Amino acid sequence: MMIEHLLKTAVRDIVDFPKPGIIFKDITPILKDPSLCDAILDAFMIRLQDLSIDVVAGIESRGFLFGLMLANKLGVPFVPIRKQGKLPAQTIQQSYALEYGYATMEIHADAFEPGSRVLIHDDLLATGGTVAAASELVKKLKGTIAGYCFIISLDFLNGKEQLLPYSEQLISLIG
Ligand code: PRP
Ligand code: MG
Repeated sequence: MMIEHLLKTAVRDIVDFPKPGIIFKDITPILKDPSLCDAILDAFMIRLQDLSIDVVAGIESRGFLFGLMLANKLGVPFVPIRKQGKLPAQTIQQSYALEYGYATMEIHADAFEPGSRVLIHDDLLATGGTVAAASELVKKLKGTIAGYCFIISLDFLNGKEQLLPYSEQLISLIG
């Protein structure tokens, strides 16, 4: 696949970041290539076309980059899911374990209407802890998880298994 090849070439492996033993997938080279950004959005659009998405929720911080662009392209609202203490209005919270460390995620309590079909987007699926927490936030607001989309999924970490109880619609462009 063309997009897979382009992405595999663009994404950089950074060894021992942010700490020893972690191989960090650096997507910043993608952001320097407008035509590759377009190709990513087109690839998502094709794969998402049957999901009836009402809103895109993007996860801080790297999930904001393509999340907003995708929401705009779909013509639906974008809502941010952020790390604790960043969102200004009333929020609900969910704690989660990261590949490295722990954190709490928040979403605005009025982010979307109950019953909305929410696409959750992040740049990368690793252990699935982050998107599982995001999924709990969407469920607490009585949203339906229409699906997930990622640029990269690290299949050896089995993050997909955490998400299957929420939605079987899981899109990732490279493994
Ligand atoms: C990274 C990545 C995902 C998450 C995946 O974000 O962007 O959001 O980790 O890990 P998981 O599947 O094991 O939960 P990070 O927390 O490093 O923050 P950033 O996006 O703000 O750089
Ligand atoms: Mg992230």
